[in-house]
Amino acid sequence: MSIFYNENDRVFTLKTANTMYQMQVSELGHLLHLYYGADLGDTVTDYRLVSVEHSFSGNPYESGFDRNYSLDTLPQEYAGYGNGDYRVCALKVENPDGSEIVHLVYDSFEISDGKYALAGLPAMHGDGAKTLKIVLKDTAGHLEVELLYGVFEERDVITRAARIRNAGTDTVTLREAMSLQIDYPKQDMDLIHFYGRHAMERMTERTPLAHGIHSLESVRGTSSHHHNPFVILCDHDATEQHGDCYGYALVYSGNFKAQTERDQIDQTRLVMGIHPAHFAWKLGENETFETPETVMAYSEQGLSHLTHLLHDAFRSNLIRSKYVESPRPILINNWEATYFDFNEEKLYGIAKNAKEIGLDLFVLDDGWFGKRDNDLSGLGDWYVNEQKLKGGLAPLAEKIRGLGMKFGIWIEPEMVSEDSDLFREHPDWCLLQPQHSAVRSRHQLNLDVSRKEVRDHVMNQIFRVLDDCRIDYVKWDMNRSIANVFSAGLPAERQGEIYHRYMLGLYEMMERLVSRYPDLLFENCSGGGGRFDAGMLYYSPQIWCSDNTDAIDRLKIQYGTSFAYPISTMGAHVSVCPNHQTGRTVPLKTRGVVASAGTFGFELDLEKMTEEEKAEAKAMVQEYKSMEHLVQTGDYYRLSDPFKNEDYAAWQFVAKDQSESVVSGVILRGESSPHIHYLRLQGLDGSAHYRETESGRVYTGAALKKAGIPLPTGLGDYRPVSMRFVRVN
Ligand code: DGJ
Repeated sequence: MSIFYNENDRVFTLKTANTMYQMQVSELGHLLHLYYGADLGDTVTDYRLVSVEHSFSGNPYESGFDRNYSLDTLPQEYAGYGNGDYRVCALKVENPDGSEIVHLVYDSFEISDGKYALAGLPAMHGDGAKTLKIVLKDTAGHLEVELLYGVFEERDVITRAARIRNAGTDTVTLREAMSLQIDYPKQDMDLIHFYGRHAMERMTERTPLAHGIHSLESVRGTSSHHHNPFVILCDHDATEQHGDCYGYALVYSGNFKAQTERDQIDQTRLVMGIHPAHFAWKLGENETFETPETVMAYSEQGLSHLTHLLHDAFRSNLIRSKYVESPRPILINNWEATYFDFNEEKLYGIAKNAKEIGLDLFVLDDGWFGKRDNDLSGLGDWYVNEQKLKGGLAPLAEKIRGLGMKFGIWIEPEMVSEDSDLFREHPDWCLLQPQHSAVRSRHQLNLDVSRKEVRDHVMNQIFRVLDDCRIDYVKWDMNRSIANVFSAGLPAERQGEIYHRYMLGLYEMMERLVSRYPDLLFENCSGGGGRFDAGMLYYSPQIWCSDNTDAIDRLKIQYGTSFAYPISTMGAHVSVCPNHQTGRTVPLKTRGVVASAGTFGFELDLEKMTEEEKAEAKAMVQEYKSMEHLVQTGDYYRLSDPFKNEDYAAWQFVAKDQSESVVSGVILRGESSPHIHYLRLQGLDGSAHYRETESGRVYTGAALKKAGIPLPTGLGDYRPVSMRFVRVN
């Protein structure tokens, strides 16, 4: 059993392998949050609720003359707006009379085997989970809220979502419906979050929680390059190996907010969910709305363990692809090699060279369709550009298959170019408010995929192409933020539903793709890593991590991404030097080492490589193939912080059974009279012996962990580090 209800104390307790989560129904029927953290046995943590008055924190009428009972200070599980709790709240509505108050009290609960499902939304799944449903009712009778908890005992994670039903007869409008609210008592904590920009996504920032509200959010229609829907709250002194850490990942790819508020008495509240900007969801009688899900994990052993919990949970219970933990074809993508300028001969030349160095999959990126010779035109016309590819894609695909390789293509189904047949035929199919001029971005407009006829048209065109060339792989791109939003398919009073309906439409398109082609290797992308989130991972086992392929910038990008998302999900390619995004030159081997900490691939003109470079690339491919199982199923350790360490970057993969490990990194600068840097390894069995495969030297696990191993010295910047250890006894 992992879910308990104690009738005497009216306490709900959720237990996973090492954690405990507790709530209590108060004497007035409010669902209070008691505790989340390490397992405390059979303790009922309501002793932590201290009854004391805070002036200007009002009291519900039902509390009579008790001036100590205030929703403004009590920790709550899912606070409604307007009841004297002045903190950020989980639920805000517009009632039939225009008021905004929603006062939720406990009604009932239900415990069931299996995991609750959310209609049309990505979510964790799998055997062994249990569900707790707690029903809260609005005291005015308008709404009923089901708080849903998915308990994955073995995985040590809990999920949350809310289902909101109109229990009255008149329409209620949801203004804010969060997926999660969590209240912490006074506890000094840091917030770690991942901000960025195009080609520099998921930069890591750690700040002490300050008083007031701190909001991380996207209103771009995608989860965005700018903030990631994942946050960590941790002790001030938490490190990779020590301290309490909590991770919260929203399984959603659209507008979101993750807000922390440190209140008047230093308590902290976190809310996470769909961003309320341009959100107004109408609920008629008996209609329901389901929020996206949040995955929560807790570690009392620091950030590395938190990462392992999330990586394992996502690999085993979120990503559905058959490739999630099995060898992936190593790909060559033609984008940085040719951009839009290619023909069949050029592509075949690259593919032939790819085969020679041992690659398995050829990916034809942007430019194969419509009138697509540059980014001014063609999006929306998903038929082959026969000027570039005579006879279509099928002959090229067959030729490439003839080499013994697989074949994949790039698509961008959510977009339309003004210069396209689709736009000429259906100008009202894009998200555009006609009295305002459009916002162009990369010259393109967003299709209104909230509309079924739009989705059907686009997907049917794409399916025709995929069927024709018997596709093995698809890269789904999305290259702009949404703006100037209006849907010709919705009435005026429902325009506030458009952003979320867009997401539901998008998820439906992806669902159709992966269920029609169950063997397809599916990669997501949004101008690189603009939609790198748990929602997308449900559909695709890999996401192009960033348009920045510079190995040195990637050290920061991949470091930030690694906190929540499995290493095997991060598309990482060896590209040419000087690098197209930064102009930097980095040794080929170093580019290989960095790309090996991800879904390894190549993206450069292989025909231009020297024989020596090709030999080096071939060795890299073999090397990656021999360690891929560790990338896919092992534990990942960050051994340095690229935001602080200017000397080197290092990381490590360790097999779950501690039988082998790969240590990789980059020495960032050459030094005269060099420092000697010692890497203290992680995750090994201290009492076992490990052989370093290149030197043959044997070390105890304890020596590698405690005394550390020196990094090689030498001249030059950006030198690669690559060591492999195998347990000998
Ligand atoms: C943005 C992607 O991130 C790139 O890899 C490439 O596919 C281009 N779009 C193509 O337009």
